[in-house]
Amino acid sequence: MTKTILATGGAGYIGSHICYELLAAGYQVVVLDDFSNSSAESIKRVARLTNGAPVLIKGDVRDAAILDHVFSENRIDAVIHLAGVKAVGESVQNPQKYYDINVSGSVNLFGSMQRHGVSNVVFSSSATVYGIPEISPLTEDMPANPLNPYGQTKLMVENILRDMTAANPHWRSLLLRYFNPVGAHASGQIGEDPNGIPDNLFPYIAMVANKKQPKLNVFGDDYDTADGTCIRDYIHVVDLARGHVKAVDYLLSDRATDNSAEMVNLGTDQGSSVFQVLKAWEAACGFEIPYRIAPRRAGDAPAYYADSRRAKALLGWQAEYDLARMCADHWHWQSKNPDGYGK
Ligand SMILES: NC(=O)c1ccc[n+]([C@@H]2O[C@H](COP(=O)([O-])OP(=O)(O)OC[C@H]3O[C@@H](n4cnc5c(N)ncnc54)[C@H](O)[C@@H]3O)[C@@H](O)[C@H]2O)c1
Repeated sequence: MTKTILATGGAGYIGSHICYELLAAGYQVVVLDDFSNSSAESIKRVARLTNGAPVLIKGDVRDAAILDHVFSENRIDAVIHLAGVKAVGESVQNPQKYYDINVSGSVNLFGSMQRHGVSNVVFSSSATVYGIPEISPLTEDMPANPLNPYGQTKLMVENILRDMTAANPHWRSLLLRYFNPVGAHASGQIGEDPNGIPDNLFPYIAMVANKKQPKLNVFGDDYDTADGTCIRDYIHVVDLARGHVKAVDYLLSDRATDNSAEMVNLGTDQGSSVFQVLKAWEAACGFEIPYRIAPRRAGDAPAYYADSRRAKALLGWQAEYDLARMCADHWHWQSKNPDGYGK
């Protein structure tokens, strides 16, 4: 029988790619999203691309009545919990918003799952929980030390979920720590559509390439790295989305055991510097991206990248796309949709 997956925040950047991959793999999909950082257009496009029929419900994960309605009306086999807010800088300015949406929203969701006997959950965590790591690659057993409220909320939800999984019969959970998701679906129909001016490198470069910003700020070229710029583990959003299909396959199989909560890194195990990314973008667009060297930003780690061996061993998942493909697909989406979904 077809299994049904609830994706909270499923209309967002990562969620829409996950919905595409779930439908393509034969799952039925229910999306709950309040559209605070997305629009229904992404899911309409996913439906068109897959010939699928995802169910789309507008609502807030902090609203228990909506959640109870979603679980009563749909037989949900597993939940992928993406809904939340994600801007590190804003989380420092307005931590209450982050604790409310990310932590209270998650507690509310897990409570509703409990009331409705839904026991499989995948949580969108982040490499931010590692703080400023001294060595890479990062393995899941390295200490977590988040440096900002956003990272704290991710670690808190991981801990809450671990406790709930231990306490509830049959609960199984996967805490997926994403590295730096970038790129877009190869169709150019779905992709990242940030509100305002993004903090992150790829969407910022995309704005410069589209002449919506004059130049890229490279925050520091004097780090102790080969070319002096910061190194991150960029992962293609399609690879990341496929990791979620593998995660759900795993939870619903007899490979997973009840009352287990596994932390799993999703990265490529390779770092790329800001200058390497810039060069790859220039190759993808065929023109130069103007930049200037700006002062370092507080709290930026010089370098980190994942060790994803656990993802391979547990889920049978491994990233496939390289940096050139990430840039080409991101630019394809952005050049076809310079105003995103026009929300
Ligand atoms: N993009 C990244 O770099 C990154 C890295 C690590 C982890 N994550 C996590 O992955 C998840 C998805 O990230 P994304 O990049 O797709 O962000 P996104 O903003 O595109 O997606 C989040 C979605 O959640 C929805 N949402 C927000 N608050 C909600 C609420 N209270 N109720 C219902 N829906 C709500 C938004 O409208 C949006 O559609 C987030 O939890 C984020 O913290 C993202």
